[in-house]
Amino acid sequence: MGSNLTWHDASLQVDHYRKRNGHHSGVIWFTGLSGSGKSSVANRVNEKLYEKHLQSYLLDGDNVRHGLNQDLGFAAQDREENIRRIGEVAKLFTDSGTIVLTAFISPYQEDRDRVRNLLPEGDFIEVFVDCPLEECEKRDPKGLYEKARSGEIKGFTGIDAPYEAPIDPELVLHTHERDIETCANQVIDYLEERGWV
Ligand code: PPS
Repeated sequence: MGSNLTWHDASLQVDHYRKRNGHHSGVIWFTGLSGSGKSSVANRVNEKLYEKHLQSYLLDGDNVRHGLNQDLGFAAQDREENIRRIGEVAKLFTDSGTIVLTAFISPYQEDRDRVRNLLPEGDFIEVFVDCPLEECEKRDPKGLYEKARSGEIKGFTGIDAPYEAPIDPELVLHTHERDIETCANQVIDYLEERGWV
């Protein structure tokens, strides 16, 4: 932080917002390959929270790259910066009493851990959307795997760029074996178990 900057503590803090909202706040971090179902599951969980009148918000890969992170590409350093900024934004949402759902490939364990460490202990839930590469490639909803295989896209996650599967995630969802609804319910059940909602 620059030496001429001063941190201001607002009079309303996270506990005020949590108390008013009647539930915990924190980050539910979905990570997985392109086409694994991160966005679909996160979106369904968000809908379910909304139906329960809880305060939640979804930050999604492609959308954030259209605005906040439009200056970033897919080199390792850019992905690191992408996740760093999203982590900071997710922390702000958490401070506002919101349950934040994020759906980014976030291929590096170190980057995900940095976000975890940015938040108070227990306010970060890592959800591994575990779908085999072959299945993601078969789905290929945006035709990107085909382009990656043909060399039209370079540095595509899972093809010629790495994906580091989470070492110790709080939750693992098998989207190739279970439908979106079942996976979303698995997340909601976990939030209830943890006392978040
Ligand atoms: S990352 O790795 O976390 O910074 O990526 P993220 O911000 O989630 O963006 C992933 C979406 O960008 C599209 N896309 C690519 N993905 C991976 N590798 C390369 N090279 C690439 N180029 C474009 C793709 O649509 C990803 O969306 P999802 O929803 O994951 O399929």
